[in-house]
Amino acid sequence: MAYSAPISPSLSVFKNPQLTKFPFAFSPLLSRSRIQNLRMAVRNKTSLSSSSLVVATAAEKQKKRYPGESKGFVEEMRFVAMRLHTKEQAKEGEKETKSPEERPVAKWEPTVEGYLRFLVDSKLVYDTLEGIIHQSIFPTYTEFKNTGLERAEKLATDLEWFRKQGYEIPEPTSPGKTYSQYLKDLAENDPPAFICHFYNIYFAHSAGGRMIGRKVAERILDNKELEFYKWDGDLSQLLQTVREKLNKVAEEWTREEKNHCLEETEKSFKYSGEILRLILS
Ligand code: HEM
Repeated sequence: MAYSAPISPSLSVFKNPQLTKFPFAFSPLLSRSRIQNLRMAVRNKTSLSSSSLVVATAAEKQKKRYPGESKGFVEEMRFVAMRLHTKEQAKEGEKETKSPEERPVAKWEPTVEGYLRFLVDSKLVYDTLEGIIHQSIFPTYTEFKNTGLERAEKLATDLEWFRKQGYEIPEPTSPGKTYSQYLKDLAENDPPAFICHFYNIYFAHSAGGRMIGRKVAERILDNKELEFYKWDGDLSQLLQTVREKLNKVAEEWTREEKNHCLEETEKSFKYSGEILRLILS
C-alpha cells in the first residue's frame, strides 16, 4: 500500500504546537537554546563562565536520571519497552498479565486462520511504515530507508505460500487498519512518537516476534520457517546499524521530545498487542 503524503523537509517538531504540551524534564529556566549553547560550549571545549559551569553541572546531573541514557537513546527506549512486558513474556518484564497474548507463548493455542489474520494485519502495518519511510524526504525518516529490517515483501511471499497451500487470505481487520492510520497521522504530526513505533515494531519482531514465530510454527505449521522471520544478512549487524542511526536522530531532540517518544511506548504495546492477539482469534 502506497503512502502518498511525504513529510516536508521543513517540518520541525519545534514548530509543532502539540509538542509544547509535554512536561519539561529540565527546569523551564533552561530553554532549548540555552541547553544547546551549553552543549556546544562543552563540545567545543570553549571556556565557560563560572555561572554557566554551575548550570551545566546541574544539567549533567539531571541527565543521569534517565535509565539507559549513558548508552544512548535506544537503550532508554529499550528500558521502557522491557518494563511493559509481563514476566511471562520476558524476564525483565514487570507488567501484570491481563490479556491472552500476555500469557506465556508456550501455552498459546494458535489457529492457522488466526495466524493468517495476524500476518495480514502485520503486513498492512509494515506496508504503511515502509511506505512512509520510502517516500519521505524528511531527514529524520530518510535515515531509515533500506535498513534491511523491512518486512512487507517477506510477508507478501509468506501470504502467497499460504494461498498456494489452499488457504484463503483474509482482508485486513480493525487492529491493523487502526494502527496503520495512527502511524500515518503520527508520521505527519509527531516524529518522535513515530520513531518510537518504528523502533518497537522492528525490534520487537527481532526478539519476541521470532520466538513467537518458532512456537507457532511448531504447533500449527509443521515447523515451516516463514520468510517473515528471515533477514538478508546478519540480523545483529542490521539491528546495530539501526540502533546507531536512532541514537543519532535522537541526539537532535530536546529532553522533552525524548520523553515524549518514550511515553509513546505504551501505545506501541497497545496497538501491537491487539494485532498479536489475532493469532489466538
Ligand atoms: C507475546 C508477546 C511478546 C513476547 C513473548 C516478547 C518477548 C520478548 C523477549 C524475550 C525479548 C528479549 C529480551 C532480552 O533481550 O533478554 C523482547 C525484547 C523486546 N520486545 Fe518484546 N515481547 C512481546 C511483545 C512485545 C511487544 C508488543 C512489543 C512492542 C511493540 C515488544 C517490544 C520489545 C522490544 C523493543 C524489545 C527489545 C529488543 C532489543 O533488545 O533489541 N515486545 N521481547
